[in-house]
Amino acid sequence: MIIYFSGTGNSRFVAKKLAALTGEELVDAVKYTREGKGAAFTKPGKYVFVSPVYVSAPPRAFVDFIRKSSFPNNVRAYFVMTCAGGMGGSPEYCRRLASEKGFAYLGTAQVCMPQNYIAMFKTHTAEENREVVRRAMPVIEGLADFILGGVELPDPGMKAWEYISTEMIIGMYYRDFMKAKAFRVSDACIGCGRCAASCPLANISMKDRRPVWGNNCTHCMACINLCPKQAIEYGKRTEGKPRYTGPDNL
Ligand SMILES: Cc1cc2nc3c(=O)[nH]c(=O)nc-3n(C[C@H](O)[C@H](O)[C@H](O)COP(=O)(O)O)c2cc1C
Ligand code: SF4
Ligand code: SF4
Repeated sequence: MIIYFSGTGNSRFVAKKLAALTGEELVDAVKYTREGKGAAFTKPGKYVFVSPVYVSAPPRAFVDFIRKSSFPNNVRAYFVMTCAGGMGGSPEYCRRLASEKGFAYLGTAQVCMPQNYIAMFKTHTAEENREVVRRAMPVIEGLADFILGGVELPDPGMKAWEYISTEMIIGMYYRDFMKAKAFRVSDACIGCGRCAASCPLANISMKDRRPVWGNNCTHCMACINLCPKQAIEYGKRTEGKPRYTGPDNL
């Protein structure tokens, strides 16, 4: 079973490739996170949890979904994190989550994919992003071999300070920065509703054919990146920046 959470498509892409290479069933967690619910999983065996890295850790919305979900006994769990540079303290969060859920922990691996965080960082050209995805392919294939064999992933060599420093900033970051308040929409909006449909937390409603943001934003960047008219900005930080619409559109 491969369960994934994705904002702009990188983690979906990796999860789909892993499913194709391993024959494992694929489950999109977003249909549950949109409702704030967990799911009841009954299939025994291997579970692969695929998600982006948010602030050196797995997204809270995905962790909450796993916490709320029920699983059979004897789950053997892999965690695959897509990131733009490094997964930081993620392995320790995943190990702790596995322990909390009673899973046998088989490791955490990172797959470097294009940067999607346009509200904070610069995004790259399509050419640069294609190269990043090209370099990710053998990493994904290598992970599939570990999963097929049911063996533990290599130790990623996480340093203790990476977890400690994440712990020091993550609460503050979610509290003070992961807000939707700075999103605004321009007259270029055609009222298509794609932003609302793409939000993994159902935080956008359409009013008079315009998006209205609520207070439950995890900064996944789907709404702003996937708008077909580039009608969404995040304050002034995103003005003039290219949007990242996912690896399938490069
Ligand atoms: C809120 C947020 C926080 C992020 N934090 C990190 C990070 O700590 N380290 C990193 O390498 N990439 C970070 N990124 C980049 C994403 O992890 C990366 O682009 C990921 O592949 C996006 O996955 P998705 O397309 O499935 O949503 C962050 C992106 C967002 C939106
Ligand atoms: S995706 Fe863009 S064009 Fe479509 S409703 Fe949202 S803001 Fe408007
Ligand atoms: S409002 Fe936009 S950035 Fe926030 S969680 Fe929804 S899609 Fe992601």
